[in-house]
Amino acid sequence: MSDQFDLIVIGAGPGGYVCAIRAAQLGMKVACVEKRATLGGTCLNVGCIPSKALLQSSENYHAVRHDFAAHGVIAGDVRFDLPKMMGHKDEVVTANTRGVEFLFKKNKVTWLKGEARFKTADTITVGTESYTARSIVIATGSESVPLPGVAIDETRIVTSTGAIALAQVPQHLVVIGGGYIGLELGSVWRRLGAEVTVVEFLDRLVPTMDGEIAAAFQKILTKSGMKFRLGTKVTKADTAGERVALTLEPAAGGTAETLTADVVLVAIGRRAHTENLGLDAIGVSTDARGRVVTDAHFATNVKGIYAIGDVIAGPMLAHKAEEEGVALAEILAGQAGHVNYGAIPGVVYTWPEIASVGQTEEELKAAGIAYKVGKFPFMANGRARAMGDTDGFVKLLSDKATDRLLGAHIIGPDAGTIIAELVMAIEFGASAEDVARTSHAHPTLNEAVKEAALAVDGRALHI
Ligand code: FAD
Ligand code: NAI
Repeated sequence: MSDQFDLIVIGAGPGGYVCAIRAAQLGMKVACVEKRATLGGTCLNVGCIPSKALLQSSENYHAVRHDFAAHGVIAGDVRFDLPKMMGHKDEVVTANTRGVEFLFKKNKVTWLKGEARFKTADTITVGTESYTARSIVIATGSESVPLPGVAIDETRIVTSTGAIALAQVPQHLVVIGGGYIGLELGSVWRRLGAEVTVVEFLDRLVPTMDGEIAAAFQKILTKSGMKFRLGTKVTKADTAGERVALTLEPAAGGTAETLTADVVLVAIGRRAHTENLGLDAIGVSTDARGRVVTDAHFATNVKGIYAIGDVIAGPMLAHKAEEEGVALAEILAGQAGHVNYGAIPGVVYTWPEIASVGQTEEELKAAGIAYKVGKFPFMANGRARAMGDTDGFVKLLSDKATDRLLGAHIIGPDAGTIIAELVMAIEFGASAEDVARTSHAHPTLNEAVKEAALAVDGRALHI
């Protein structure tokens, strides 16, 4: 006789653990299967949380060394202790993963430890045990995309998992892929003294972000000493020598050249993870990119089986997975769960940060939507000047006819926090005028948002 649940969630990442907790809050008997030794998935164990710990630590070091003197703070001989930095990162991870364990206990979610596999549409096995549920959610997340000819060993050729655990600062780090991971982790090691070269296939960085923001970002990162090889691909890595020899070619083909590195970070995207789940046996459909296909209510083509998070279509972001987890739990409880995909922010946590919500200028052009633009630079913001963080700007896009806010893009200090009011504005269907007429505390970085909203109609006051 197998154990019976109302809901079994496979995977305890931000999608799965949040779905499990919300379903338990709504009165369901819930189990969550996780094969890792700790809860929290990619995000808490090897993704969002450890990378942000290292970004913060390395930024602290960089700020003391390079920025404090301008404030009249003399720091003397500043050094860093890498094992201690890594220790801090590990403590932060442990506190977070234990926190999820506590939340499971508090909400009476059963953690089934081990790897889940479908036996039938309503039964899974974990080790030698079988468990049955009315509904089963696939929340198995994603894994990094491999690059042919560049074999990962997690020591010299690493994914993000190896790059957040290097034992020493590489002399030369080559990052393949100028996206979220490459630029965040490239920044960490650059600040700690590595020479960093980013090799990007396209002719621009962060391809999902607004083009103007991406161009400004590249300039600022270049100022920090990062080097860029755009429109370039890596075709081979030779690890026979003391250093890794990479073969580079123009993306469109052409003459090959060699670039040597001490460590190579492969960060060319992530793909849905469904290995060993037994999806074929029960007939769950996946798309050409291996993602589980779902309808607007997260239902797969097999009755009673649902999927959320990185394993389905959409941006691979923790908060997107969480929103889906909550919405699905509410749908399963007979409520009207819903995710507004037009109001999911994206943030790259470098310094300055870049943050974005809604449509980019390129997307509006491609869709033939007439729009207005309002921009305001942090150089003209009093608080940014006081901080000594004047790089970047706020850019707002609103509908030319209705003034409804369609997109917001920021490069600047704490952009990831600043963007929140614009996510709210888009969620509530606000116009640029609504934002412009909202009182913003002075002196705050968010005043740049108000000024950009005023600039949409040419009324910025401080520029
Ligand atoms: P995951 O977090 O991947 O969790 C899936 C879980 O399922 C895993 O723990 C896995 O062990 C488990 N699992 C898989 N198969 C089985 C099975 N058969 N049985 C049992 N368990 C199974 N996003 C942000 O929003 N902000 C960030 O700052 C950010 N930083 C990141 C930094 C890095 C370096 C990386 C790699 C990612 C980052 N992300 C960030 C992305 C974020 O981590 C993912 O979007 C998020 O974790 C997806 O959540 P999920 O629940 O869908 O899957
Ligand atoms: P990414 O999709 O952000 O960037 C990958 C980059 O690699 C792109 O610019 C792409 O053009 C380039 N590329 C693809 N193939 C290439 C090749 N053969 N050679 C050179 N360049 C190539 O993917 P990344 O950085 O691996 O991160 C995966 C995902 O994880 C992100 O898309 C994001 O969803 C999530 N993430 C989110 C973070 C955040 O929210 N701050 C931080 C880290 C990851």
